[in-house]
Amino acid sequence: MTLEPIAELQARFGQQGAISFAERLGGLVALLDWGGAQSVVALQGAQVLSYEAAGYGEVLWLSPEARLGTGKAVRGGIPICWPWFGPHPQGGDGPAHGFVRTRPWRVVSAHADENGTRLTLAPDGPPAHPAWPHTAELSLEIVLGTSLTLSLSTRNTGASPFALTQALHSYFLVQDISAAEVDGLQHVVFIDQLDPGALKSESGLVRIAGEVDRIYQDVIRPITIIDGSDRRIVIQSHGSASAVVWNPWIEKAARLGDMGEGGYRRLVCVETANAGADVITLAPGARHTLTAIIAALGR
Ligand code: BG6
Repeated sequence: MTLEPIAELQARFGQQGAISFAERLGGLVALLDWGGAQSVVALQGAQVLSYEAAGYGEVLWLSPEARLGTGKAVRGGIPICWPWFGPHPQGGDGPAHGFVRTRPWRVVSAHADENGTRLTLAPDGPPAHPAWPHTAELSLEIVLGTSLTLSLSTRNTGASPFALTQALHSYFLVQDISAAEVDGLQHVVFIDQLDPGALKSESGLVRIAGEVDRIYQDVIRPITIIDGSDRRIVIQSHGSASAVVWNPWIEKAARLGDMGEGGYRRLVCVETANAGADVITLAPGARHTLTAIIAALGR
């Protein structure tokens, strides 16, 4: 399948002052506007690259080295990890975090009204991979309103159940990681991915002073990022019992090689997920929707 050029997308889905299409970072993007808020969404991977909240500025971190169309996942924004989170679940030959974040997606619908600007995307062609012997329908609905809401919906179109893990891998922009704190995860047990097999918890706010890679289990509260600036970022979720907190710190950032100079200091990933023990089993015909609602608010 070939993707529609900008003019056709504009004619079919564009709406004055709300939805337009352009080329950015070497690929096609949708530009969403609503009530002073703006968002940029790449059709590659249905990846939100930017979310400017009205009055609070940019909420997401995006690598200065980000380029679309290289075959590699773009570092930053909100990549979609699907249908597995992390390495292939059976140790198979599939890419980390699944296979849809580098694929082309197409616009299914777009609509703007007094509640928000809404864009729905789906993979351009069935979301299939040799290392994943299942069939599914997948879509992402993005609503830009007083917050940014992402709903990733999976329906099992096959004849047998399958296990699904996934994440809306949000990279949040902070002033400086040394001042950043994550509230809402106190006493929540996490799998420490840097200490395999270890289950831990903390009584205080999460502070980051080194590499952190944790899958929090049974998360029930909204999670808030505070960074010493005059705003906080609040993340609510539905269809998710787990959240991943990740910062690569110095050595891993150097190994990854695509974060820019000192990039790790400006971000904390707080990912709305079905990961760790939070595995969704989808029966034939069943649907699961993973939703993240991201808002910037005053302190
Ligand atoms: C996080 C994982 O979600 O994503 C980390 O917990 C991983 O282990 C990170 O390093 C980045 O992954 P990738 O594949 O985008 O480099």
